[in-house]
Amino acid sequence: MSTIPTETNLDKLGVRLSAGSVVRTGEPLARHTTLRVGGPAELYVEPALESDLAETLRYCVETAQPFFLLGRGSNLLVRDGGVRGVVICLSRPHFSRVEVVDGGLQCGAGARLKRVAAVARQEGMAGFEFLEGIPGSIGGALRMNAGAMGWAAFDLVARVRIMETSGDVVELDRSEMDVAYRSCASLKGRVVLSVLLRGEAGDPEKIASRMREFEAKRKSSQPTAPSAGCMFKNPATVPAGRLIDELGLKGTCVGAARVSEKHGNFLVNDGGATAADVLGLIELIRDRARRERGIELETEVQIIGQ
Ligand code: EPU
Repeated sequence: MSTIPTETNLDKLGVRLSAGSVVRTGEPLARHTTLRVGGPAELYVEPALESDLAETLRYCVETAQPFFLLGRGSNLLVRDGGVRGVVICLSRPHFSRVEVVDGGLQCGAGARLKRVAAVARQEGMAGFEFLEGIPGSIGGALRMNAGAMGWAAFDLVARVRIMETSGDVVELDRSEMDVAYRSCASLKGRVVLSVLLRGEAGDPEKIASRMREFEAKRKSSQPTAPSAGCMFKNPATVPAGRLIDELGLKGTCVGAARVSEKHGNFLVNDGGATAADVLGLIELIRDRARRERGIELETEVQIIGQ
C-alpha cells in the first residue's frame, strides 16, 4: 500500500465522523512526539466522540488498513518514512476528562498524567504522585504499564473500558487483565476508552510534598531536552542508564541525536535530528552493550513506521 496520503481516504472517512473530529492526510508525526522526529501519518484522526472512534475502527477493518493509537507521543519513535494506514489520537475534550467519582477518578484515555496527579492531590487521594512527571496520557500509560519512582500505572487501576476493533465496548476489572513490567497484553489490538483509578485517602499536604520530592529527583537526574524518556528497558542485572554510563557512551552523537550527559538511558534531540539518527544511536549502544557486557538491550520506546 502507498504511503502517499490520499484525499479519497480523507473523504471516505471524514463524512462518517461528527463535526468536532479532526481528519488530516499526511500529518507530520514529528509534531506529535516528544522526541520531535518522525514522518507523516497517511491518515491522522482525532475522533470527537466514542461513536466517531467506533466509525474510524470499523473503517480500518472494512478497508483493511492498519491503525495505530497515538497517546501524547512520549514513548514513541516514528521512522522518517512515516506511518501507513490510520493514526488515531484521543486528544479531543471528550477523551481528556478527569472526573471525581466515589473514591476514585474516572479518566478518559487522553487525560494527561500531570492533570490526573493534580486532581488526585486536590481530592486527597494518595498513590497518584508518581504520575506527575510522566509526560503522557493515561491510555498510553496503561498500554505500556508506564512507571516511575517504583510505581506503575496498573497499581492504580480498578476497571478499564475498552473498545474492540468492531466498535463494541467491553469493561474489564484489573484482576481480569494480563499485566507485566512495561506491558499489558490484554490491551493489544484494542483501544482504552477510559479507566477508573483508585488510590488511598491521604493528606493533601503530604501528597503535595511527595510530588515535590519526585519532581526534584526527576529534575536532578533526567534531561529536559526533547527525548522519548528512557529508551531501553532495564535489564535484570543493571539499570540501562548505569550500563550506558559505564560503557562511557554519554555525550555520544549520531547526527543530531545524543546520549544525554545527565542520564545514559535518555537519547535527546539536539535540534533537527532524524529518526535515522536516533536509530543509529540505538544500534551503536546495543552493539557496545552486547560486545562488551554480553547484555541484549531491548527498547522500551515503541518504534513504528517505515
Ligand atoms: N545511573 C547511572 N548513570 C546514569 C543514569 C542512572 O549510574 O546515567 C544509575 C542511578 O544512579 C541509579 C540507577 O542507575 O543508581 C537507576 O537510575 P534511575 O534512578 O534514574 O532510574 P532508572 O531505572 O534509570 C526508572 C524508569 C524511569 C523513571 C525513573 C524514576 C525504566 C526503564 N526507567 O529509571 O522511567 O522515570 O526510574 O523512577 O524503568 C521511562 O519509563 O521513560 C522513564 C524515564
